[in-house]
Amino acid sequence: MTIDLKNQVYIITGSGRGIGLEIAKAFAENNCTVILSDYNEDSLAHAQKIFDESGYHYRAIACDITKEDHVENLVDKTFNEFGKIDGLINNAGITRDNLLIRMKNDQWDAVIDTNLKGVFLTSRAVAKYFLKQRYGKIINIASVVGLIGNASQANYSSSKAGVIGFTKSIAKELGSRNVTANAIAPGFIETEMTHVLSDKAKDEFLKNIPMKRPGKPKDVANAALFLASSMADYITGQVLTVDGGMVM
Ligand SMILES: NC(=O)c1ccc[n+]([C@@H]2O[C@H](COP(=O)([O-])OP(=O)(O)OC[C@H]3O[C@@H](n4cnc5c(N)ncnc54)[C@H](O)[C@@H]3O)[C@@H](O)[C@H]2O)c1
Repeated sequence: MTIDLKNQVYIITGSGRGIGLEIAKAFAENNCTVILSDYNEDSLAHAQKIFDESGYHYRAIACDITKEDHVENLVDKTFNEFGKIDGLINNAGITRDNLLIRMKNDQWDAVIDTNLKGVFLTSRAVAKYFLKQRYGKIINIASVVGLIGNASQANYSSSKAGVIGFTKSIAKELGSRNVTANAIAPGFIETEMTHVLSDKAKDEFLKNIPMKRPGKPKDVANAALFLASSMADYITGQVLTVDGGMVM
């Protein structure tokens, strides 16, 4: 079975670069109309250039997922133009790493606001339409550290563990209306987010990866494509790790 997302409309947050951009490209390659979205306008413009050059079908809507009015605008604008929304990929995320005793309140708040509250705001906004449509898919990009924790990432791990609990809760709440919610938990993926890690931290990750290599954004995009496809229509409330075997 091939994956064809023709006539489908997906909103992908944080799709200006990294994993989000790779998911957006993979979806567009499979005929999906992609709503590119990011709060970084330079990244968004860069993604638009790639989409223009590739002839992909898309719209670009700037959105900071921590701001409710931005989120409402993103979702309402998409629905008003296309008359439906097939899915939402909650990909935007940040890190503000620090040891617990040194962690500042603003480091805690920024990560929880973006990675957890942002996912709540966008999911609530699309759920309004999904319930009426009696169809919709929410795919949340969590992290393996939401399952196993990580030193210096109490804020980030808490946010991603929260996303996993959130995903399971809304899967239970929305399932009877044919709305699914799943999470992908990537391990160590090569992007600008992990580029800043020290060699020591990278070596530490690699030691714990049976496949002995970092993942690529494409590895995560493929998992998202599967969950968006009709092959995954009866899968909900699950966490799919994409981590070369790090967590099992
Ligand atoms: N790279 C990894 O190893 C890894 C591992 C596990 C999980 N993840 C998760 O995957 C997702 C993507 O990570 P990445 O590695 O591509 O990171 P990245 O930093 O390269 O990209 C994140 C994107 O999100 C955008 N963004 C951040 N805050 C935003 C906000 N408030 N509103 C809108 N956009 C915002 C950024 O501008 C950026 O374009 C994140 O949720 C991250 O936590 C990454």
